[in-house]
Amino acid sequence: MSGRLQFYFAEARKLSSHYGTLPRDFKFFLRSLKISETIIALEDDIPISLEDQQQIESFFHEYTQGIPLDYILQESAFFNHTFFVDSRVLIPRPETELMVEKVLRLPLSSDAVVLEVGTGSGCISVSLALSRPSWRVIASDISAEALEVAQINLKKFEVVNLQLIYSNWLSFARFNSVELIISNPPYIHPDDEHLKDLIHEPISALVTPNGLNSFKEIAKQAMHALKSGGQIMFEHGHTQKDEVMSILHEEGFINIVSNQDLQGLNRFVLAEK
Ligand SMILES: C[S@@+](CC[C@H](N)C(=O)[O-])C[C@H]1O[C@@H](n2cnc3c(N)ncnc32)[C@H](O)[C@@H]1O
Repeated sequence: MSGRLQFYFAEARKLSSHYGTLPRDFKFFLRSLKISETIIALEDDIPISLEDQQQIESFFHEYTQGIPLDYILQESAFFNHTFFVDSRVLIPRPETELMVEKVLRLPLSSDAVVLEVGTGSGCISVSLALSRPSWRVIASDISAEALEVAQINLKKFEVVNLQLIYSNWLSFARFNSVELIISNPPYIHPDDEHLKDLIHEPISALVTPNGLNSFKEIAKQAMHALKSGGQIMFEHGHTQKDEVMSILHEEGFINIVSNQDLQGLNRFVLAEK
């Protein structure tokens, strides 16, 4: 340990041969310790407190263990908000912001009841509830730990038109009661090789039997919960468009359309009851 910041800038440069993004992310981390922008930009030397030294040491340790920066900082930027996150929830992905934008463009009634299934950190539901104060947003998750994180965000943003519910998918929802259901459910196949790169995120947020089970379960229950003419929107893996569209078709949904993300990959499906 050292009581000088210069020592840690040098440490970050040394580690950059193995961890290319470390020097940049170290600067993000220093901002969270309230070190001044000028000192960070100039990589200047200042004395640092014992508490900050311990935090910096712990940053280097966690970073070199592969812990994602958002978990280390305990925050994630999403839809112009900064959400609290930790390893109890999936780190919000940029493509999911597009789902929020798409939902906000739908011609829903001003007092619509909107239900999000599998809310995780609550990033989608909180963003929607803040953008549309007259909607009633209900967000479910089967992970009590994820709901604790969503609750932190609900409080952080003082959201009043959002209710969190512990539930297996939308089994709590009443028949014919909802105008829109949205979900970015777990959609990775248990044998998918990419899982080895995602070991720090909760497996229950990522994986579903044969990569499609969650879509089937939600689509079935959504048919019951949606009002006639109500809509459902899924985010899915970029190779799953055809399967997700056929699941919705088999459940009796109509006007099923696919949408792309900003990279032009098939990523969202919208359908109507
Ligand atoms: C891919 S994450 C999405 C989190 C967040 N909505 C987002 O887009 O960042 C899927 C979420 O579904 C939840 N989930 C998994 N199985 C569920 C079930 N049977 N019922 C409700 N939620 C479930 C997980 O706990 C996780 O929070």
